[in-house]
Amino acid sequence: MLSRRDTILTSLKAMTGVAVTASSPLGTLLASPVRAQGRGQADGVPYGAAVRDGPLASEPDYRAALVRHCRQLVGEGGLKWYDLRPSRERFVYDLPDKQIDFASRNGMTLRGHTVVWYGAMPDWTKSIASASEAEREMVGHIETVMGRYRGRIKSWDVINEPIPDDPASRSDIRPSIWQQRMGESHIALALRTAARADPDAQLVMNEYDIEFVGPRFRRKREAFLRLIRDLKLRNVPLHAIGLQGHLRGELPIDREGLSAFIAECRSMGLKVLVTELDVVDDKLPGPPEVRDILAASRVYDFLDAIRVSSPLDALLTWGISDRYTWVPLYFKRTDGHLNRPLPLDSDYRPKPMMRVIEHFLR
Ligand code: XIL
Repeated sequence: MLSRRDTILTSLKAMTGVAVTASSPLGTLLASPVRAQGRGQADGVPYGAAVRDGPLASEPDYRAALVRHCRQLVGEGGLKWYDLRPSRERFVYDLPDKQIDFASRNGMTLRGHTVVWYGAMPDWTKSIASASEAEREMVGHIETVMGRYRGRIKSWDVINEPIPDDPASRSDIRPSIWQQRMGESHIALALRTAARADPDAQLVMNEYDIEFVGPRFRRKREAFLRLIRDLKLRNVPLHAIGLQGHLRGELPIDREGLSAFIAECRSMGLKVLVTELDVVDDKLPGPPEVRDILAASRVYDFLDAIRVSSPLDALLTWGISDRYTWVPLYFKRTDGHLNRPLPLDSDYRPKPMMRVIEHFLR
């Protein structure tokens, strides 16, 4: 007789063509008895999650899940320009201060997300008219914000999403007010300013869509590498690469391409973090138990390919529970089922994805 797990694996194969066999590494991992590992050993890869301020303030179960599982946090918002800078003159620190307070009271650290990004910009920044004004605003922002959290936020996504979705050439940079006014030199300037504002902080450049099979993703990887190499050649302070890891459930991982990319980053002395892992599941089959295994198998392929060269410096998911996730804002399912992109379900129970993550933390 077929076990329940075999039935799930068979329907997974039938619905998606993805064969997770009972004897594959992932199959074996999922079959082993569940160990409620939680925060785990202090010497493994630190796991963390993005936090949302509403439930952080109001929901004890949410806070308990973070404390149980995480050694790091990052604000889903709070340090973005539109949260911090409602006007040119004002800096509002309420949200990051609360996040950092919660983190330190519970023995966790907070990562800083993010400084230079095209997104989440308040409207007033559209009026930045010249290169010199842009330089003044960007440098002033970095000095003020990173200076304020100096020694407390130890790792920063200084540069977020610098490469366009389909780069026209290897030197293509995504448009932003900074790129439009200052050109590519804004990236080195931001990193140098960050290094002065907090000389001990880990400075990270973060990107998505680096890991899938296909020409568009290969072009994105190559353009990202071109930028990384250029910064390192010029001795710009850049310490780590962040792979956001917003995996698309329907897209296979380019294991070879990803491993080669990571090996090259490592050869330049860079650390590697996974900063925003989740599985966008709008195009995956409906039944949750099939979907969860498919999502776990994507995470497995992704983390396994990265790990080939050396261990991660940190691994964070973009949220901890399916109850609070950005995914339905952009990738809502059309069949009425809820999205399930994260390692805990909406009642904070660990899903197969959590077992895969914990496997790679050891
Ligand atoms: C998203 C947040 O999750 C949303 O709550 C917010 O409205 C928009 O930004 N890549 C990033 C994150 O670097 O900052 C984004 O976060 C998700 C994609």
